[in-house]
Amino acid sequence: MMNTYRIDDGRQTLVLATQSDRLPQVVYWGATLPQTEDLAAVAAAHMIDVTGGMLDENPDLSLCPEAARSFPGQVGLILSDADGRAILPQFSVTDVAQGQTLAFTSRDDNHGLTLTFTFKVDTHSNVITCQTTLAADTPVRLHWLAAPVLPAPQHAREMIDVSGRWCGEFQLNRTPWTAGLHMRENRTGRTGHEHFPGLLVPSAGATNTSGDCYGFHYGWSGGHKMIAEELQDGRRQVQWGNAPDTDSAPATQFETSPLYITYADNGLNGCGVSFQRHLRDNIVTWAAPNAPRPVHYNCWEAVYFDHQLPVLTDIADRAAALGAERFVLDDGWFGLRDDDTSSLADWVIDGRKYPDGLAPLITHVQSLGMTFGLWFEPEMINGNSDVYRAHPEWVLGACDQILGRQQKVLNMALPEVRDFLFDRIGAILGGNDISYIKWDHNRVLPQPDAAQTRGTYALLDRLRAAFPAVEIESCASGGGRIDYGILSRTQRVWLSDSNDALERLRIQHDAALFLPMAVTGSHVGPRVCHTSGRTIDITMRAWVAAQRHMGFEMDPRELDDRETQVLKDVTQWWKDNRNWMYHADILRLDSADPAVTAELQLAQTGAQFVVFAGKAATSAQISPRPLRLTGLDPQASYRISLRNRDDINPLSRGTTLLKEQDLTMSGTYLMNNGITLPWSFPERMWIVEGVRV
Ligand code: GLA
Repeated sequence: MMNTYRIDDGRQTLVLATQSDRLPQVVYWGATLPQTEDLAAVAAAHMIDVTGGMLDENPDLSLCPEAARSFPGQVGLILSDADGRAILPQFSVTDVAQGQTLAFTSRDDNHGLTLTFTFKVDTHSNVITCQTTLAADTPVRLHWLAAPVLPAPQHAREMIDVSGRWCGEFQLNRTPWTAGLHMRENRTGRTGHEHFPGLLVPSAGATNTSGDCYGFHYGWSGGHKMIAEELQDGRRQVQWGNAPDTDSAPATQFETSPLYITYADNGLNGCGVSFQRHLRDNIVTWAAPNAPRPVHYNCWEAVYFDHQLPVLTDIADRAAALGAERFVLDDGWFGLRDDDTSSLADWVIDGRKYPDGLAPLITHVQSLGMTFGLWFEPEMINGNSDVYRAHPEWVLGACDQILGRQQKVLNMALPEVRDFLFDRIGAILGGNDISYIKWDHNRVLPQPDAAQTRGTYALLDRLRAAFPAVEIESCASGGGRIDYGILSRTQRVWLSDSNDALERLRIQHDAALFLPMAVTGSHVGPRVCHTSGRTIDITMRAWVAAQRHMGFEMDPRELDDRETQVLKDVTQWWKDNRNWMYHADILRLDSADPAVTAELQLAQTGAQFVVFAGKAATSAQISPRPLRLTGLDPQASYRISLRNRDDINPLSRGTTLLKEQDLTMSGTYLMNNGITLPWSFPERMWIVEGVRV
């Protein structure tokens, strides 16, 4: 007996089937099927043949492939009883509930286990949220539990996953599909620069703007495992779950984090836009949902640990004059923190630097029309701190563990640690007018531990409930903790410690496959970048920051008159445009020139757009190649203008029309021929604004 179920969101259809009472399997995932499609036929037609050297029937690639049913690849659940004896469960579906959420419940009576799968649809973003839970009648040890297991398309040749490093986040890796496993296992206990939990599976030939693409994101901050496996019979499966063996104690309830999936027929951008919208509109819990994103000033690269009130107030004056609306006081304000060797966990204002507390600085900042934000690194502790001396037992891991940035990690599973942090952070927030926290996490854990992540989530939830107006930025040496788990509790990410505009251009471009402008912090760095040593012109630095949630992080005392003027102009442009850009889709352009990294931000109404075309290097050919746009209405006309004509270089001697005048062209022309931009130096950016006429 076969039962079938379909999930539709207007763009994609997912068809699931149960054969007899066996676990459901996905028998179709892709473009919307006609409502009249015979699902029983879809399920039956999905069956592959059997020949020599195979079992007489192909084991199901179910939502949780089972060893007990002879599944020949990686199974979806690995567990043992409390004494460590392996359990090989075999589930039977007992209940299916189909409403807004499709839920399957199944049971293994022999082992007293209940397994459930849920699928939730969102027609706005076209992201399906799915999750697996396991309940046991008596405590069991969990080694691995996969979120609902999905098939990967056979017509894909490669997959794109994400790695990275400090100052080099969101590096896209293309790996060919081949027999066997491609596995990403993150044992750092933190989302990590090296393991952003995302995967795209494009069909052969797909580009940013065309072709089929399947997207996955696993929303967990404690380290994950991803399996992409091709079986001998050619079938492919994708599994996601928390890093194995990170729930160490026997228990009766387990759940995966949510897995976010989507299918698009318009290239990588289709998946990217879905993830951007889903994160911005469904995941992030905004403190003030419709308030414009304020321009930030962050003092880290201006003063580091050297906090002096007159210097900071001078910097605040200058930052406000440039257009900043939020002043964030970074590391160095607490304990005896003169460098990174001491004081983490001593969350008490340093009376040497701030004899009258933070109030004089906050009052000054507010008198300039800016709000005030403060840096914390709550989960961390230095050996050289009062808290460590009083509570060495609060530390996670071995006494002689290797330090990271001279620090250890507090054990967030301990309620007394969470209470302590809540009280200390709460006292600072309660005693001062602070509307923003930059929440840092500058080292990996000594060992992966799911309880640590849950402890952090609990503390964040408690602080958010007590201080609902306070927004939080997730930072971990830049982009080391970016995922939809942390982002359901925070409102911004510090994408990278690299303020090098060239590096940032690339990182932002690739991160846009998962992150919208609204959450992606981007700051104008110093003239000579502190992390790359590069000197980059202010126009490039300013425009790259204006692509995302804009801010400044240089010492404004270094700015000359020209730099000041450019920065003021670009910041004003950003303020004039941020409201529609907040809701815009970021579409990556397929630039014909590899030296150019370009994107188009398209207003939700389709009525306007802006193109950012960053020339990261010198081009091979002498003249710019036309840049094809995307996402426009082919029949509509658009008036386009070069926003930064002032940046035209005297070496550009030709008559490229955009240099002199605005153009009105059809969407068809703009998307097929593309726009012809003037010649420029490398390390420059063209900004083209478009309005539908
Ligand atoms: C991390 C962050 C930086 C800064 C420093 C402060 O490295 O990524 O932005 O806040 O910590 O110590």
